[in-house]
Amino acid sequence: MSEQPVTSIQPPIAPRLTLHDGGSIPQLGLGVYKVANDATADLVAGALRLGYRHIDTAALYENERGVGEGVRASGLPREEVFVTSKVWNDAHGLDATRRAFDESMAELGLEHLDLYLIHWPAPRQNRFVEAWKAMIALRDEGRVRSIGVSNFEPHHVRRLVDETGVVPVVNQVELHPRLPQHAVREANAALGIVTESWSPLARSHLLETGSRDHAVLSAIAERHGRTPAQVALRWHVQQGLVVIPKSTSLARVAENTAVFDWRLEAGDMAAIAALESGERTGRHPDDLD
Ligand SMILES: NC(=O)c1ccc[n+]([C@@H]2O[C@H](COP(=O)([O-])OP(=O)(O)OC[C@H]3O[C@@H](n4cnc5c(N)ncnc54)[C@H](OP(=O)(O)O)[C@@H]3O)[C@@H](O)[C@H]2O)c1
Repeated sequence: MSEQPVTSIQPPIAPRLTLHDGGSIPQLGLGVYKVANDATADLVAGALRLGYRHIDTAALYENERGVGEGVRASGLPREEVFVTSKVWNDAHGLDATRRAFDESMAELGLEHLDLYLIHWPAPRQNRFVEAWKAMIALRDEGRVRSIGVSNFEPHHVRRLVDETGVVPVVNQVELHPRLPQHAVREANAALGIVTESWSPLARSHLLETGSRDHAVLSAIAERHGRTPAQVALRWHVQQGLVVIPKSTSLARVAENTAVFDWRLEAGDMAAIAALESGERTGRHPDDLD
């Protein structure tokens, strides 16, 4: 595919997964971490025209303005696009979280947000329950449709539920074949929480020529007539995970959509399972404040 602007709007590519609050989330989204704000609008509009309907940003990424512009430029009705943003660690607290939300909405220039997440629990600050209470209020006021968390270990989620009775709809965590997060997924599933995979390609470490991951993924890819990235993303999708790969190239953004109309076989899944090493690309949630 060329890098020419995409002008016609393609139908949605991804199925939607049901959330326990009655909403739903497209299973594939575009992540925009480390995409420059001035490049974000074109990338987002291009992805939406290619059939994406879900964009994952955060206050930390400093590109919410570009996301909002891209959504408006796509030509799609607002209702058809699912936008996620996240509150950063410096804004946990009843008032601070509300102020951060207002700032995000001003940057996005949108009337409502589809999903708002606590970006990290930042447990040493010990204010994530207050942040959660602010988010519950924002949801009750209709300013955000659904609320969830990111990088929450099961014990962090338990505190939210014990202290507020409100269960997050989503937990977005680092998840890829090196770090399949069995315990977190099991705990999420027990509460009806959808697990979302961030860095689904392990920030492209899985695709480095010469790595064990690349050898396994490319052998499978060759048999299916796919690319190693598509094999990795299919591994997520086939397990019911929401996946938000990032690419600044519209050609790769398009490549990453071809993960819904074919299946990995049991032997492929077993070969990928053997890539588990526990290696993270980011920090452990208990260690980041
Ligand atoms: N909640 C959190 O704490 C958290 C943390 C990190 C990330 N996230 C979210 O998750 C999203 C994805 O994670 P990520 O950006 O860290 O990593 P990722 O999606 O695993 O990997 C992105 C890297 O893979 C490359 N890539 C993408 N598609 C490719 C393809 N088809 N072939 C070859 N290379 C490809 C990209 O390069 P090019 O851009 O050059 O194509 C980029 O270097 C983020 O954008 C963000 O929205 C959330």
